[in-house]
Amino acid sequence: CGIVAYIGKEQAFPIILKGLKRLEYRGYDSAGIAVLNDDTNLNNYKRQGKVSELENFAADHDTTGTIGIGHTRWATHGLPNNVNAHPHVSSDGEMALIHNGIIENYDSLKEELISRGYEFKSETDTEVLIHLIDDIKKKENVKTAEAVRIALNSVIGAYAIVVVSKDNPNQLIAARKSSPLVVGIGKQGDFYLASDATPIIEYTNEVVYMEDEEIAIVDRNEGLRIFSIQNKEKTPYIQKLEMQLEAIEKGGYEHFMLKEIHEQPRSIQDCFRGRLNLDEGWVGLGGIKDYEKQLTKAKRIIMVACGTSWHAALVGEYLFEDLTRIPVEVEYASEFRYRNPIINEDDIVIAISQSGETADTLAALDLAKSKGATILGICNVVGSSISRVTDAGSYTHAGPEIGVASTKAFTAQVTVLTLMALTIARKKGTIIESEFRKIITELDLIPNKVAKILEKADQLEEIAAAYKDASNALYLGRGNSFPVALEGALKLKEISYIHAEGYPAAEMKHGPIALIDEEMPVFVIATQGPSYEKVVSNIQEVKARKGKIIAVITEGDEQVKEMADHCIEIPDTDENLTPLLTTIPLQLISYYVAVMRGANVDQPRNLAKSVTVE
Ligand code: G6P
Repeated sequence: CGIVAYIGKEQAFPIILKGLKRLEYRGYDSAGIAVLNDDTNLNNYKRQGKVSELENFAADHDTTGTIGIGHTRWATHGLPNNVNAHPHVSSDGEMALIHNGIIENYDSLKEELISRGYEFKSETDTEVLIHLIDDIKKKENVKTAEAVRIALNSVIGAYAIVVVSKDNPNQLIAARKSSPLVVGIGKQGDFYLASDATPIIEYTNEVVYMEDEEIAIVDRNEGLRIFSIQNKEKTPYIQKLEMQLEAIEKGGYEHFMLKEIHEQPRSIQDCFRGRLNLDEGWVGLGGIKDYEKQLTKAKRIIMVACGTSWHAALVGEYLFEDLTRIPVEVEYASEFRYRNPIINEDDIVIAISQSGETADTLAALDLAKSKGATILGICNVVGSSISRVTDAGSYTHAGPEIGVASTKAFTAQVTVLTLMALTIARKKGTIIESEFRKIITELDLIPNKVAKILEKADQLEEIAAAYKDASNALYLGRGNSFPVALEGALKLKEISYIHAEGYPAAEMKHGPIALIDEEMPVFVIATQGPSYEKVVSNIQEVKARKGKIIAVITEGDEQVKEMADHCIEIPDTDENLTPLLTTIPLQLISYYVAVMRGANVDQPRNLAKSVTVE
């Protein structure tokens, strides 16, 4: 979900609306804005669907006022409809609230509030919060900010909230726990609140990232004040944002996803800029410098992640084990955290996350830390929660990723993992100099090779056209191409809703082969390398069952060309780096298939960019 709020001299509604559009990628099944006008009327507009539905609806209503709050929702409790959409208003109509996260003890709170006469209109956990604050405010006869503070002390769960109240039109009250919230400090005493910096950067680059269990009071007269939920005042730490506005706009592309796919030559380059020096034969990651020694001594590395980031971790496993000879375990963060995992003090846990906010990944890190492990992070979003809780880490520097289906963040994660593995391998002496030099020379060439693959867009669009009506698809690969197969399948299913599975090519015969017939497109990553011949045999097996073969091959490979229905040639590179190339055509094919099927590429149904619920 996404939060935006504004207080200042300007009209709040258009600023919040624009902000919600920028945040729409975080969740988009309903949206709402409440503004307090100059006569202190609290006008609350909510609509199921996209932010544009809300915009149309509000067009003939009073949206004036210089203070307001807005929300775009990704449903957790209750269907996406007008009633469940935020903001939620107190029974007396005096206060409105927006909320991201989940209130875990909402059932018991709700029961108590019902017994005290509160009536619930929605099925959301959020409505509990507004009634709770209202109840405390009246019972204890305190101001809204104090009521918020007291209420949050009895709440279990995750929240980022903003409250506006008629009795103080000069004030917004915000709080956070396990769900991100950023305060933007405007140039003329105006303030912006948002779940991430994207709605803020066009107005100011001065921000304060709120910490867990902090309450911010933003007042027209007194400015920004921050308190702990124990009521201790804290000094806000103001940071300067370096993000550029162009980075969050489409820049002429039809979709963010397409723009982000095409950005990869640059984002990969940005990722290794300053971290790789060919002349001196050197790689290094400043962020983990102090942990290099510990990494070389590690008996085990555990990588935790979700979704596409989990696929990057699988590529990392191959890289680390091959180059550093350190055993690596890759875990779904959500499974790891709930299974009483064995974690030792000398383990190193690396979390991989584009957003740096994924709730399960954060919780997995907390668990690892509590057991004494060293925790490191690989995040894209600067200042994100994971980047702050970890002992150290490296940013991927891919720039903001807006398309829900992750593309450039994935290749940047793999790039960082490559640099990390090389750094450790060198320090540990598990790689010989000539091999090291060869890999970094090849790594430096990757951006140009990616650009060469992107030039094949027309061919990839033709392939997409041929299979756009398929109901199923299979993706096969071996070794480090297996995670690429998983990622290829995920990209297709996420945005085109075609059922797709990624499989280790050799495992196909233990199940998926039963599905193969002349209707089934089978994408095979069959680049030159140690398992090439084996993959060729798997292609034969598919062919014998009349499956359609789309093969990603190394330039000049004639053998597979004779067997496959379509071949996508990619430049040769070092075996360890192939995922950075083989992923690219699969991303583009998925993109074109989704466009041809009329799907909403940037905001696929039911998905969210940043999953801050468990
Ligand atoms: C969501 C997104 C995916 C992403 C996953 C993990 O499901 O839609 O694109 O891979 O979360 O997110 P993270 O921000 O932790 O990488």
